[in-house]
Amino acid sequence: MDILKVELGERSYPIVIGAGLLADPELLRQHIPARDVLIVSNTTVAPLYLQPVAAALSPRRVVEAILPDGESNKTLATVGRVIDVLVANRFGRDSCVVALGGGVVGDMAGFAAACYQRGVAYVQLPTTLLAQVDSSVGGKTGVNHPGGKNLIGAFHQPQAVLADTSTLSTLPPRELRAGLAEVIKYGLICDAPFFAWLETHAGELLAGDPAALSHVIRRSCEIKAHIVGRDEREHGDRALLNLGHTFGHAIESATHYTEWLHGEAVGAGLLMAATMSKEAGLLGDADVERVRALLERVGLPVKIGGVGPDVALEHMRIDKKVVAGRLRLVLMRAIGEAFVTADYPEEALQRTLQTCFA
Ligand SMILES: NC(=O)c1ccc[n+]([C@@H]2O[C@H](COP(=O)([O-])OP(=O)(O)OC[C@H]3O[C@@H](n4cnc5c(N)ncnc54)[C@H](O)[C@@H]3O)[C@@H](O)[C@H]2O)c1
Ligand SMILES: [Zn+2]
Repeated sequence: MDILKVELGERSYPIVIGAGLLADPELLRQHIPARDVLIVSNTTVAPLYLQPVAAALSPRRVVEAILPDGESNKTLATVGRVIDVLVANRFGRDSCVVALGGGVVGDMAGFAAACYQRGVAYVQLPTTLLAQVDSSVGGKTGVNHPGGKNLIGAFHQPQAVLADTSTLSTLPPRELRAGLAEVIKYGLICDAPFFAWLETHAGELLAGDPAALSHVIRRSCEIKAHIVGRDEREHGDRALLNLGHTFGHAIESATHYTEWLHGEAVGAGLLMAATMSKEAGLLGDADVERVRALLERVGLPVKIGGVGPDVALEHMRIDKKVVAGRLRLVLMRAIGEAFVTADYPEEALQRTLQTCFA
């Protein structure tokens, strides 16, 4: 069992990584002290993992809210249902919401916890690779709006993140690959040796090797915890975590969140960020090819069909990264050296969009 800490003063919390955590009554008791617990999960994850969690939480009052599966349900209406359950069961301010599932469940359960009675505690029990390496850490919660992804939300830090790596054994391979996109992102942001490690260990990761997966979860959480600890509310460095995301969100929203998984869109977005860095004269061809090769090696799609460059740009502009009318982007000077900038040649962006959204 590995324990990391997100250092945020009085909002600090542990990230525990290990196999079998969900069914460990002692661990759950330690990190979920509340007497009233609402487990939020979905129709796919609940049949697999809810029972052991509920059993480990007994004899406390445990109520369940089982949501429909899928990104298209990450809406205010679904969060409203979670809040309805809290109200109907007269949960007080000292209750705890437990998010059992991937990033969709985590974002909604966290947002419900942020809103209910102006904020109750919540604990993340992430069950996808993407949630274990990214979405469960850092306190961003929220939902989509028809006008854009994650447009409605709040910062609300969890009380703990308990990442049970054994849940990954039931994860569909496509979801595992999507999570690897976020892992590759961390290497590109600030850890070239980690990127190189991924190049040589991709096979083990794809085969679901527990040691390899634990290693990437730990390193990813370390990097994210460090960045969030420096800049909780994204006034500066936290924006680095958006590497590949402005492009990726354009892909997701232009295809109405139906064709691309979030992680897949981020993967293609990483290649776009590398291409854009090359177009801006920052990154060499060889590095762009390393990015492309690793994405392809882990089976992530890199070709974007059906979206034109103009539509893509329009979708990029509704993204939250527009500051004073100028789109801020995360670019790379090298593999492992990302930076945030609004100062880039407009033609470089145009050429990138033309090349990637052919
Ligand atoms: N808050 C943040 O900081 C942050 C960061 C990154 C992504 N996100 C959000 O996370 C979401 C994507 O998360 P995701 O990739 O986890 O998707 P997801 O939550 O939709 O999960 C993917 C699929 O896997 C299923 N599943 C989950 N765990 C499983 C398991 N152990 N076995 C079998 N099936 C399982 C889910 O039911 C779902 O069908 C997006 O909405 C994205 O915006 C948030
Ligand atoms: Zn992401």
